[in-house]
Amino acid sequence: MILHSAEFIISAVRLDQCPTSGEAEFAFVGRSNVGKSSLLNKLLNRRNLARISGSPGKTQTLNFYHINDSFYFVDLPGYGYAKVSKQLRAKWGPMVEEYLIKRDTLIKVIQLVDVRHEPSRDDQLMYEWLCYNGRQPQIVATKADKIARGSYGKQIQMIAKTLKMDPVASPILLTSADTGYGIDLLWSAVDHELQA
Ligand code: GTP
Ligand code: MG
Repeated sequence: MILHSAEFIISAVRLDQCPTSGEAEFAFVGRSNVGKSSLLNKLLNRRNLARISGSPGKTQTLNFYHINDSFYFVDLPGYGYAKVSKQLRAKWGPMVEEYLIKRDTLIKVIQLVDVRHEPSRDDQLMYEWLCYNGRQPQIVATKADKIARGSYGKQIQMIAKTLKMDPVASPILLTSADTGYGIDLLWSAVDHELQA
């Protein structure tokens, strides 16, 4: 895939505000701070297209990025961050759930987990919930630069085991938004889905 263009389109808070062009889209989900917005920026080779911050809960809407005028990446609010106000959380949950279940043009969910840690209870629940709803996600382990190369295999196995996945049938990708590690393989996975 050659990246020609990446353009922010809209921050949606309801399904009826999402683009209606019918083009395929990929949604990035994961707990707050796992690195969704950072990974998007790295994929798109842009430093600050998707907003990033040191404080979790930065992304609060469904943010659509139009790629090569032909498909979308969607940056979703993170789950599992307690300090965001209850009122906001009560609004997000249903919005994100409705989007993930009902959005016809969503061809692949990309679920991010931090490679350093065992997937949290929320990560496990999200994974199970997505599978139950027929949306088996591509798991991407983030922040590879934070661990030694020698432990990549062990960490990936631990993540697969915790999520009760078969890592051969559904390979886990490992990325770093800092160094760009694994970004090419993630693009290949995106390409593959677009051609399926
Ligand atoms: P929310 O929008 O709150 O849901 O968070 P998010 O998942 O979009 O995370 P974001 O991309 O904002 O990154 C959170 C923090 O992790 C920031 O301080 C990033 O710089 C850092 N970060 C993200 N990816 C990486 C990575 O691959 N390596 C390192 N070292 N830091 C990362
Ligand atoms: Mg974000």
